[in-house]
Amino acid sequence: MSVTVRVPAKVNVQLAVGAARADGFHDLANVFLAVGLYDEITATPSPQGLRVTCEGPDADQVPLDDSNLAARAAIELARRYGRTPDVHLHIVKDIPVAGGMAGGSADGAGALLACDALWGTGATREELLEICAELGSDVPFSFVGGAALGVGRGELLTPLEVGGVFHWVFAIAERGLSTPAVFREFDRLAEGLDIPEPVASPELLAALAKGDPDALAATVVNDLQPAALSLFPELADTLAAGRAAGALAALVSGSGPTTAFLTRDADAAHRVADALRASGTCRTVRMAQGPAEGATIS
Ligand code: C5P
Repeated sequence: MSVTVRVPAKVNVQLAVGAARADGFHDLANVFLAVGLYDEITATPSPQGLRVTCEGPDADQVPLDDSNLAARAAIELARRYGRTPDVHLHIVKDIPVAGGMAGGSADGAGALLACDALWGTGATREELLEICAELGSDVPFSFVGGAALGVGRGELLTPLEVGGVFHWVFAIAERGLSTPAVFREFDRLAEGLDIPEPVASPELLAALAKGDPDALAATVVNDLQPAALSLFPELADTLAAGRAAGALAALVSGSGPTTAFLTRDADAAHRVADALRASGTCRTVRMAQGPAEGATIS
């Protein structure tokens, strides 16, 4: 018997970042939108003990030890329910690795749901979300999907209404960026500045609720973008190529280095994707729509 769970990637349509807290984390106003690029996690009983395997174009960059969030999810769930994490977790990876699209978080959320179903723990959704929050700031959102405002570290979620489908193009960069390194660079660039409390933009929430891509494009903002560009200056060329091809908005996704391009419709998305491929400023180009469903047993 085995259980397979599909989990979406995310793009942050607003990422407002506050000053560093005493614990090193940053308070956020993080407007997440799940998009239709998915990792699939299959949990199968493994009498030999916990094992993680991964397939996909970037599989060689995925750690297979206990630092993988999928492994940590299995270990934490097993600990809480007094059992051993005797499970094989196989990840079919389609979300870019170290790309700012919550691929690692998706695997954590997916493994948690898959192990929970496999073991029949009877855990409530609240308990599972609590474990998600322990695993990482973005893991609760990977679990719930759709669109949500995350505050605190990003783990305290309020679901958001979305009035339509948004068409996105994602340019995957030649290399990854480390999230802690991008936050450190944010702190360095913020030194001596007065950083305001992060708050969600009412105009942006209204644009999402209306499903209006032009209004959303006018309000998207990522406070980590200057830090990501400072560590990875070539991303400016990718952003410029997407804008020149008619994207309504171009921004770094989360901590990057994936760049995200909002388009008016599917045709425009194809045009932007073709232009980005031809630009030579990125490794791969993907199209996806949002919102997408959260972690789902398939
Ligand atoms: O929560 P997660 O493990 O995904 O966070 C990875 C790193 O990103 C943290 O160690 C921290 O450096 C940074 N981070 C932060 N503030 C947040 C979320 C993440 O500084 N709200």
